[in-house]
Amino acid sequence: SDEDSINLDDCYNLALDLVRKAGDLVKEGFEKLSKTVECKSGSWDLVTEYDAKVENLLINGITCSYPGHCFIAEETKADEVLTDAPTWIIDPVDGTNNFVHGIPFTAISVAFVLKKEIQIGIVYNPIMNEMYTARLGQGAFLNGKQIAVSNAKTLDESMYCHEISLARRDALRDKHMKRVYKITACSQGIRSFGCAALSLAYVARGSIDCYHLEDLYPWDVAAGALLIREAGGKVFKSDGGPYDIMDPQVVCAATDELSREVVEAIKVADEWNLRME
Ligand code: IPD
Ligand code: CA
Ligand code: CA
Ligand code: CA
Repeated sequence: SDEDSINLDDCYNLALDLVRKAGDLVKEGFEKLSKTVECKSGSWDLVTEYDAKVENLLINGITCSYPGHCFIAEETKADEVLTDAPTWIIDPVDGTNNFVHGIPFTAISVAFVLKKEIQIGIVYNPIMNEMYTARLGQGAFLNGKQIAVSNAKTLDESMYCHEISLARRDALRDKHMKRVYKITACSQGIRSFGCAALSLAYVARGSIDCYHLEDLYPWDVAAGALLIREAGGKVFKSDGGPYDIMDPQVVCAATDELSREVVEAIKVADEWNLRME
């Protein structure tokens, strides 16, 4: 069958080559003073000409070699369902807001999924020249050097990361603020990078000990989830259940113990009868 003939080395090399080319485009855009910026669903939801350009470069490049492969991608393939077919999950520019503001935390995120199992994960920050790569069963790497998660077992000794900007949305505000309040109170520090893919990569490299993300999309998480697992870390759903590629609500952590503590803290915060207005 089609799947039996898939050579993962070839897929990986092609993806790496295309992601590098896409990175040149992102870098060019980042350095350009005037970009065309539009709002999608609100003033906090920005998109530039580069988001679509990068996505097209990646999808066209892959399709040339693999005309039968499927895509789930933010700008042009957002409503696809995941099947057992070979599928690329792509966020062309993660952290568009940073990209627009000239904050160098922006990345291209590409995952390759076969029979609903992530085989390849690539997160590339071309501005800071950080290429994070992982293949199932083969470890995770930053610019070719193997990386590993930290040993943190408790929140008390952990740097926690949370996409605080999601609280900008009325329907999500209380939930995110309560969780941030609860977890910040017992962690070593909190960071919010505005780029989910890179935040996950920072867990994989052992800089961030745990990261909780909810209300984003499959393309924000898929590549980074493999990076973390291949770096020895844990990826669960927010309630501690198994991570689901198409339901990207996650607790990621260096260790099992730490992920359990975060899951527990979320539960406690959600039970708070608080409204912040
Ligand atoms: C954004 C990033 C960011 C998160 C935003 C997302 P985008 O994705 O994942 O970390 O805080 O909510 O929209 O739109 O820049 O690809
Ligand atoms: Ca977006
Ligand atoms: Ca994104
Ligand atoms: Ca994006």
